[in-house]
Amino acid sequence: MVENKKITRIISLSNQKGGVGKTTTAMNLATALAACGNKVLIIDFDPQGNTTTGLGIEKTQAKTNTYTLLMGESSLEETVCETSVPNLWVVPSTIHLSGAEVELVSVIARESRLKEGLEPAQGVYDYVFIDCPPSLGLLTINAFMASQYVLVPLQCEFFAMEGISQLFQTIKIVKKNLNPDLEFMGVLLTMYDSRNNLASQVEAEVREHLPGQVLETVIPRNVRLSEAPSHGVPGLIYDVKCSGSQAYIRLAAEIMRKFSNPKSTTKKEAA
Ligand SMILES: Nc1ncnc2c1ncn2[C@@H]1O[C@H](COP(=O)(O)OP(=O)(O)O)[C@@H](O)[C@H]1O
Ligand SMILES: [Mg+2]
Repeated sequence: MVENKKITRIISLSNQKGGVGKTTTAMNLATALAACGNKVLIIDFDPQGNTTTGLGIEKTQAKTNTYTLLMGESSLEETVCETSVPNLWVVPSTIHLSGAEVELVSVIARESRLKEGLEPAQGVYDYVFIDCPPSLGLLTINAFMASQYVLVPLQCEFFAMEGISQLFQTIKIVKKNLNPDLEFMGVLLTMYDSRNNLASQVEAEVREHLPGQVLETVIPRNVRLSEAPSHGVPGLIYDVKCSGSQAYIRLAAEIMRKFSNPKSTTKKEAA
């Protein structure tokens, strides 16, 4: 029936460290892509639900949410919420998701619950972002099973690379055993403070360690990005002119370029 189906790119934003910019990237990259006319969906896959609140959705109102989707208690259509941003939808998260990790253990095909839940998104959305929790447990495995790409935000600070080999190992294991289509999309440097020498040292070190695997765009530390969630809108809506929003617009352009020229997409295996 449906002609000219879209190609749907499903991208996990993952790093088991908290506070590195996963949620900020999910909201702002998604908004920048939506502003370019793409249909974009964010799956809030963190029980803390920061993306949900950051997009102005009241968590207590989210009767259907990532937990119910994961458990097969609601369909994607029943779970998706509109946001105030045109072309941007979200599957909200509530604290219930925190129990899922344990509950899933006894469930059949426990690693592919999210993949099944997201099946109806294929051909409907241009981009689906999965905002992962800060852990490498069963929820993150579900996210990697459902994705074609993993994008890793890395905060430009001391010990930035700590834990990164564990994350790469998890991507490798999922790719080998569960999802051969999974690709490492690259590292995104976030919260870059140009007044601090350390940031440029960290950038140089990360680029040296992971040649060709670090995105060109670097996200600066910008207070406007951190103020926006309390207003229930992404930074890009709160203040489009600020340096942080402008960086996310450049990031969206870089990502669209990668997909229009697949050869430039980082295909090297993470390790
Ligand atoms: N580029 C940035 N500049 C300033 N503050 C930022 C930036 N990116 C994220 N933050 C703030 O840092 C904190 C952690 O970011 P967040 O995106 O929630 O990380 P994660 O989802 O990885 O835990 C939040 O308070 C957020 O507003
Ligand atoms: Mg987060």
